[in-house]
Amino acid sequence: MKSQANPKKILFVCLGNICRSPLAEGIAQTYLEKKGIAWEADSAGTSGWHEGEPPCENAIKIAKMHGIEIAHQHSRPVNEADKDIRTRIVALDRKNLADLKAQGFSNVHLLGDFGGFGGEDVPDPYYFPGFEGFEKVYSMIETCVHDFIEKVENGSL
Ligand code: 4NP
Repeated sequence: MKSQANPKKILFVCLGNICRSPLAEGIAQTYLEKKGIAWEADSAGTSGWHEGEPPCENAIKIAKMHGIEIAHQHSRPVNEADKDIRTRIVALDRKNLADLKAQGFSNVHLLGDFGGFGGEDVPDPYYFPGFEGFEKVYSMIETCVHDFIEKVENGSL
């Protein structure tokens, strides 16, 4: 997909790019491929605190339980190239959205505005003790990402 002449990308952004947005990227990539939509999925953080690190163990584990491999991903902060007008940016929570706007990003979507979640934040499982909560977060991200991609597909985004 990266070899396309006019690539389009969905970029998911959370704080650390090690828990939520890597899951969103993996879920989106899998769904885009399943639907035959030639968009690329990517993810980044509003911070570079974990730059170069793979997703957190629990994120890798919950994705694997759903048949999705995300262990190859590496955290990176958002950058100027992410302001490409062909990129659709999706923030995982409202703080991420505000931080992106403060960094000069416009037209940023909130993931929780999709899938019937009424603008809810995707809770940050980084702060949950243990594995509990990852299933819930995974399920929310999956529902919202699928709905977002349906809207990309039908041309409303
Ligand atoms: P994420 O979770 O934004 O879903 O990747 C976090 C990961 C790390 C930190 C915060 C949130 N941190 O403070 O290091």
